Amino acid sequence: MLISDAELRARVAELGRDIARDYEHDNPVLVGVLKGALVFMADLIREIPIEVTMDFMALSSYGAGSRSSGVVKLAADLSMPIEDRHVILIEDIIDTGRTVSYLKRNLETRHPKSVRLCALLDKIERREVDVEIDYLGFTIPNVFVVGYGLDHAGLYRNLPHIAVLEVD
Ligand code: IMP
Ligand code: MG
Repeated sequence: MLISDAELRARVAELGRDIARDYEHDNPVLVGVLKGALVFMADLIREIPIEVTMDFMALSSYGAGSRSSGVVKLAADLSMPIEDRHVILIEDIIDTGRTVSYLKRNLETRHPKSVRLCALLDKIERREVDVEIDYLGFTIPNVFVVGYGLDHAGLYRNLPHIAVLEVD
Protein backbone atom coordinates (compact mmCIF):
# COMPACT_ATOMS: atom_id res chain seq x y z
CA MET A 1 0.00 0.00 0.00
CA LEU A 2 1.27 3.44 -0.94
CA ILE A 3 -1.65 5.73 -0.07
CA SER A 4 -4.44 4.57 2.25
CA ASP A 5 -8.11 5.28 1.70
CA ALA A 6 -8.11 7.60 4.72
CA GLU A 7 -5.22 9.61 3.27
CA LEU A 8 -7.00 9.76 -0.08
CA ARG A 9 -10.21 10.95 1.53
CA ALA A 10 -8.45 13.72 3.47
CA ARG A 11 -6.46 15.01 0.51
CA VAL A 12 -9.42 14.86 -1.90
CA ALA A 13 -11.44 16.92 0.58
CA GLU A 14 -8.69 19.57 0.61
CA LEU A 15 -8.60 19.66 -3.19
CA GLY A 16 -12.38 20.05 -3.28
CA ARG A 17 -12.22 22.96 -0.86
CA ASP A 18 -9.51 24.65 -2.97
CA ILE A 19 -11.51 24.26 -6.17
CA ALA A 20 -14.72 25.49 -4.52
CA ARG A 21 -12.88 28.57 -3.24
CA ASP A 22 -11.35 29.38 -6.63
CA TYR A 23 -14.49 28.82 -8.73
CA GLU A 24 -17.28 29.90 -6.41
CA HIS A 25 -19.37 31.73 -9.02
CA ASP A 26 -17.97 30.19 -12.20
CA ASN A 27 -19.91 26.94 -12.65
CA PRO A 28 -16.79 25.16 -13.93
CA VAL A 29 -16.97 22.11 -16.19
CA LEU A 30 -15.07 19.23 -14.63
CA VAL A 31 -13.77 17.06 -17.45
CA GLY A 32 -12.84 13.60 -16.24
CA VAL A 33 -10.45 11.48 -18.26
CA LEU A 34 -11.85 7.96 -18.45
CA LYS A 35 -11.45 5.46 -17.12
CA GLY A 36 -8.71 6.23 -14.61
CA ALA A 37 -10.18 9.42 -13.17
CA LEU A 38 -13.60 7.91 -12.49
CA VAL A 39 -13.15 7.09 -8.80
CA PHE A 40 -11.19 10.24 -8.00
CA MET A 41 -13.77 12.42 -9.74
CA ALA A 42 -16.69 10.72 -8.02
CA ASP A 43 -15.17 11.49 -4.63
CA LEU A 44 -13.91 14.95 -5.60
CA ILE A 45 -17.23 16.38 -6.82
CA ARG A 46 -18.84 15.52 -3.48
CA GLU A 47 -16.24 17.73 -1.79
CA ILE A 48 -17.01 20.72 -4.03
CA PRO A 49 -20.05 22.51 -2.54
CA ILE A 50 -20.62 24.91 -5.46
CA GLU A 51 -22.37 24.58 -8.83
CA VAL A 52 -20.34 22.39 -11.15
CA THR A 53 -21.01 20.59 -14.40
CA MET A 54 -19.33 17.31 -15.31
CA ASP A 55 -18.32 15.77 -18.57
CA PHE A 56 -15.91 13.09 -19.73
CA MET A 57 -13.36 12.26 -22.37
CA ALA A 58 -11.96 8.81 -23.03
CA LEU A 59 -8.53 8.06 -24.40
CA SER A 60 -6.75 5.01 -25.54
CA SER A 61 -2.99 5.18 -25.22
CA TYR A 62 -1.67 2.53 -22.86
CA GLY A 63 -3.13 -0.58 -24.46
CA ALA A 64 -3.21 -3.46 -22.03
CA GLY A 65 0.27 -3.07 -20.57
CA SER A 66 1.97 -0.68 -18.18
CA ARG A 67 4.10 1.30 -20.63
CA SER A 68 2.94 4.28 -22.66
CA SER A 69 2.84 3.76 -26.40
CA GLY A 70 3.38 7.50 -26.68
CA VAL A 71 0.35 7.68 -28.95
CA VAL A 72 -2.81 9.25 -27.58
CA LYS A 73 -6.12 8.67 -29.32
CA LEU A 74 -9.46 10.28 -28.49
CA ALA A 75 -11.90 7.40 -27.98
CA ALA A 76 -14.86 9.47 -26.75
CA ASP A 77 -15.39 13.21 -26.82
CA LEU A 78 -17.19 15.69 -24.58
CA SER A 79 -20.96 15.71 -24.74
CA MET A 80 -21.27 19.51 -24.86
CA PRO A 81 -19.46 22.65 -26.01
CA ILE A 82 -17.05 24.30 -23.56
CA GLU A 83 -16.72 27.64 -25.33
CA ASP A 84 -16.55 30.46 -22.74
CA ARG A 85 -16.61 27.96 -19.89
CA HIS A 86 -14.06 27.46 -17.14
CA VAL A 87 -12.73 23.93 -17.54
CA ILE A 88 -10.95 21.77 -14.99
CA LEU A 89 -9.35 18.67 -16.44
CA ILE A 90 -9.43 15.81 -13.93
CA GLU A 91 -6.69 13.18 -14.34
CA ASP A 92 -5.69 10.20 -12.26
CA ILE A 93 -1.94 10.44 -12.79
CA ILE A 94 0.59 12.51 -14.74
CA ASP A 95 3.44 10.33 -15.91
CA THR A 96 5.37 11.46 -19.03
CA GLY A 97 2.89 14.33 -19.35
CA ARG A 98 2.07 13.45 -22.95
CA THR A 99 -1.58 12.57 -22.42
CA VAL A 100 -2.45 15.70 -20.51
CA SER A 101 -0.58 18.08 -22.78
CA TYR A 102 -2.42 16.59 -25.75
CA LEU A 103 -5.73 16.99 -23.91
CA LYS A 104 -5.03 20.55 -22.86
CA ARG A 105 -4.16 21.55 -26.41
CA ASN A 106 -7.26 19.79 -27.68
CA LEU A 107 -9.50 21.63 -25.20
CA GLU A 108 -7.88 25.02 -25.88
CA THR A 109 -8.92 24.84 -29.55
CA ARG A 110 -12.56 25.05 -28.38
CA HIS A 111 -12.02 28.49 -26.82
CA PRO A 112 -12.87 27.88 -23.19
CA LYS A 113 -12.50 30.78 -20.75
CA SER A 114 -9.79 28.87 -18.91
CA VAL A 115 -8.35 25.38 -18.57
CA ARG A 116 -6.74 24.15 -15.38
CA LEU A 117 -5.48 20.73 -14.43
CA CYS A 118 -6.33 18.72 -11.34
CA ALA A 119 -4.41 15.45 -10.93
CA LEU A 120 -4.51 12.96 -8.11
CA LEU A 121 -0.95 11.70 -8.60
CA ASP A 122 2.24 13.10 -10.08
CA LYS A 123 5.06 10.76 -11.08
CA ILE A 124 7.42 13.69 -11.58
CA GLU A 125 10.61 11.65 -12.22
CA ARG A 126 9.14 10.33 -15.48
CA ARG A 127 8.19 13.67 -16.99
CA GLU A 128 9.07 14.21 -20.65
CA VAL A 129 6.72 17.09 -21.46
CA ASP A 130 6.30 20.15 -19.22
CA VAL A 131 2.89 20.39 -17.56
CA GLU A 132 1.58 22.73 -14.92
CA ILE A 133 -0.58 20.95 -12.37
CA ASP A 134 -2.89 23.46 -10.70
CA TYR A 135 -4.38 21.08 -8.12
CA LEU A 136 -2.31 18.07 -7.11
CA GLY A 137 -3.10 15.29 -4.68
CA PHE A 138 0.22 13.51 -4.16
CA THR A 139 3.67 13.28 -5.68
CA ILE A 140 4.74 9.65 -5.94
CA PRO A 141 8.04 7.92 -6.78
CA ASN A 142 8.69 6.12 -10.08
CA VAL A 143 6.63 3.02 -9.36
CA PHE A 144 3.62 1.52 -11.12
CA VAL A 145 0.50 2.09 -9.06
CA VAL A 146 -2.99 0.63 -9.17
CA GLY A 147 -6.24 1.17 -7.32
CA TYR A 148 -8.64 4.07 -6.76
CA GLY A 149 -9.39 4.05 -10.50
CA LEU A 150 -5.91 3.18 -11.76
CA ASP A 151 -5.48 -0.12 -13.53
CA HIS A 152 -3.06 -2.61 -14.89
CA ALA A 153 -4.48 -4.46 -17.91
CA GLY A 154 -7.94 -3.34 -16.82
CA LEU A 155 -7.69 -4.72 -13.31
CA TYR A 156 -7.45 -3.30 -9.76
CA ARG A 157 -9.42 -0.12 -10.42
CA ASN A 158 -11.78 -1.06 -7.59
CA LEU A 159 -9.15 -1.14 -4.83
CA PRO A 160 -10.08 1.56 -2.29
CA HIS A 161 -6.43 2.59 -1.80
CA ILE A 162 -3.37 3.18 -4.02
CA ALA A 163 -1.04 0.18 -4.16
CA VAL A 164 2.29 -0.45 -5.86
CA LEU A 165 2.18 -3.19 -8.48
CA GLU A 166 5.40 -5.04 -9.02
CA VAL A 167 5.93 -5.47 -12.74
CA ASP A 168 9.00 -6.62 -14.63
P1 IMP B 1 1.37 10.04 -19.58
O1 IMP B 1 0.82 10.44 -20.90
O2 IMP B 1 2.68 9.31 -19.68
O3 IMP B 1 1.46 11.20 -18.60
O4 IMP B 1 0.40 8.93 -19.03
C1 IMP B 1 -0.67 9.20 -18.26
C2 IMP B 1 -1.59 8.02 -18.24
O5 IMP B 1 -0.86 6.79 -18.17
C3 IMP B 1 -2.48 8.03 -17.03
O6 IMP B 1 -3.68 8.70 -17.28
C4 IMP B 1 -2.67 6.56 -16.75
O7 IMP B 1 -3.77 6.08 -17.49
C5 IMP B 1 -1.43 5.90 -17.26
N1 IMP B 1 -0.44 5.63 -16.18
C6 IMP B 1 0.75 6.20 -15.99
N2 IMP B 1 1.36 5.73 -14.92
C7 IMP B 1 0.53 4.80 -14.38
C8 IMP B 1 0.59 3.96 -13.21
O8 IMP B 1 1.56 3.95 -12.42
N3 IMP B 1 -0.49 3.15 -13.02
C9 IMP B 1 -1.56 3.13 -13.84
N4 IMP B 1 -1.67 3.91 -14.93
C10 IMP B 1 -0.63 4.74 -15.20
MG1 MG C 1 -5.60 7.71 -17.53
